[in-house]
Amino acid sequence: MAGSRGQFSSRIGFILAAAGSAVGLGNIWGFPTQAASNGGAAFLFVYLILAFTLAYPALMAELIIGRHAHANAATALRQISPSSLWGKIGSGVGVAGMVVASLILSFYAIVAGWMIGFFVAALLKLLGLNDVAIWLESFSTARNLGLMTLFMGLTAGIITQGVHGGIEKWSERLMPMLLACLVGLAVYVLTLPGASEGLKIYLLPDFNKAIEPDLILKALGAAFFSLSLGVGTMLIYGSYISDEEHLPSLGGWVTVTDVSIAVLAGFLVLPSMYVALHNGIEIFDASGNLLSEDTLIFTVLPALFDTIGSAGVVLAGFFFFLMSIAALTSSISMLEVPVAYFVERDAGSRPSVTWVTTAIITLISATIILNFETLFGLVITLTTRYGQPLLGFMFCIYAGWLWNRDTLLTELKKNNPGAADGLFWRIWPTYVKVVCPLIILGIFYQSI
Ligand code: PHE
Repeated sequence: MAGSRGQFSSRIGFILAAAGSAVGLGNIWGFPTQAASNGGAAFLFVYLILAFTLAYPALMAELIIGRHAHANAATALRQISPSSLWGKIGSGVGVAGMVVASLILSFYAIVAGWMIGFFVAALLKLLGLNDVAIWLESFSTARNLGLMTLFMGLTAGIITQGVHGGIEKWSERLMPMLLACLVGLAVYVLTLPGASEGLKIYLLPDFNKAIEPDLILKALGAAFFSLSLGVGTMLIYGSYISDEEHLPSLGGWVTVTDVSIAVLAGFLVLPSMYVALHNGIEIFDASGNLLSEDTLIFTVLPALFDTIGSAGVVLAGFFFFLMSIAALTSSISMLEVPVAYFVERDAGSRPSVTWVTTAIITLISATIILNFETLFGLVITLTTRYGQPLLGFMFCIYAGWLWNRDTLLTELKKNNPGAADGLFWRIWPTYVKVVCPLIILGIFYQSI
């Protein structure tokens, strides 16, 4: 079966593609802005704990189920279920994940469109076309609709090409460049006046804030969003991994890469905020809250590039280009969820399924743009703060309680005969069975 489906051609290809899915706007737009408005270091602290203790085990559940079933989430959960009732519920969870993935893509494409806008604006400024550049950088319904549609078109274009030619090739080329660019910028910003203030807020935690239920719930959502969990993305990527690979270490690499890039982006964004403040740009309102959390980085980063002089425009162009690519390697992994589902269920042709799905998501996204004030924040909260952790909870239940333990062990033993004596097998099954579900439920209970 695996032969007729796509497959990643190499270990590094998978790591980069899965890391490409994980690393995106969640790391560079979501995490740092949430950290900035929720206690800085306290948020970082809770996020780190949750990423390694909850998100990594949940990621492993998706990868292992995916590779075992070599199918989309709905089929996979049905396949590992012990009874037909659980099978039906499993399909329901898979379909719910697909809906959440599509909704995430519908807001994601809006923000990604802004990234493209700032990239093109930098190019136009170099050509002296300042009026169009300013239009691209200013908030308007027309701009948002145009750029969102463009981004959705790019995403669909890559997905029609399938796993190897599309997803893998692009991730391999562009991920390393993003990393280099982030490091360079973070090092530069730390030399500027005002930066140390931001650094302090990012690194010195107020532990009273770290135990606030609301902060913990937000950090949980951020960790699940940033690792692309709960919606079947990682499960479907897992289904394209060859049986030769050692899954726990693959998952470990993806987690470490993703978390490092989020933390690194914090070193860029929080100091930049205070550099901007130092340069007279308003970022807080009278009561000390951040102005416009969602668009924060589109204010403070351009202000940072301005400090560099004329080379700043080139750098801004480069940065927003890489951000657009990071968003693309994530958005393709979201679109792959409904596409894989319909292609496998109805044996449809990949290109036509892709374009129909894209058209539907584009319409949802346009609806959000036309009702921005009411819908944008609401869709983000519902999908990332509630949808992803709750669906992740269900994946843990399937991996821990419903899946036959022998089959699970056989899956782990593929190309790793000693798996039964390894640390992973001794800890993980009980951990996803008991600890993960309890912590997730506990966090939700506390926050109500
Ligand atoms: N992890 C991606 C990011 O950080 C977002 C994402 C969520 C991707 C869900 C796929 C599925 O930007």
